[in-house]
Amino acid sequence: MRLGILGSGQGSNMVAIAEQCASGALPAVVSVVISDVENAGILSRARGMALPAVYIAPGPYRTKLDESAEQEYVRVLKEANVEWIVLAGFMRIIKSEFLEQFWGKVVNIHPSLLPSFPGLEAWRQALDYGVKFTGCTVHIVDHGIDTGPILGQEIVPVLDSDTPKTLHSRIQEAERRLYPAVLRELAMDQIGIQGRRSHRK
Ligand code: GAR
Repeated sequence: MRLGILGSGQGSNMVAIAEQCASGALPAVVSVVISDVENAGILSRARGMALPAVYIAPGPYRTKLDESAEQEYVRVLKEANVEWIVLAGFMRIIKSEFLEQFWGKVVNIHPSLLPSFPGLEAWRQALDYGVKFTGCTVHIVDHGIDTGPILGQEIVPVLDSDTPKTLHSRIQEAERRLYPAVLRELAMDQIGIQGRRSHRK
């Protein structure tokens, strides 16, 4: 299974996935890593692991890619022959022109138990709301924001002593377990999806 990983941040999910590919635990290869942030940790960490790493300028908008940027993302992903697109902290909305090229083959990790707390800084939303449990979710990307069919979730308890930083860091530990595990199931063709509901085959 050939993966194209997109991220805007530190790249801890990308590293966890790439390490499991390298060890053989995840039967996949990271074909390309792309970022919309030129100096993002995800690019330097990918280069450190000898993975192809590309910066593609996003254009003038803050929350989405402009049309020519989007075409360039699609071109690079197709050139790398990727089968699955793995969003790993990619902080822009993927619009339908891009999505339709890879429909059903784009996955995302979100730092909450969806459908609770979609959008930005989900760990802070959880803390402010006062929930006792939150976690992370891997889902297929559809036209909405954090709305597609859920493939896997891991629960993380919220502690009385948590700050946004400590809670996010424990959620990220869970992400590093969950994301490679779900990708492994996809690679082994062990997940079926009917409507919104996924099941193990
Ligand atoms: C992760 O916690 C991921 O869940 C979150 O960004 C972080 C990226 O960390 N994504 C979102 O909030 C998407 N809405 P990383 O760059 O170290 O993998």
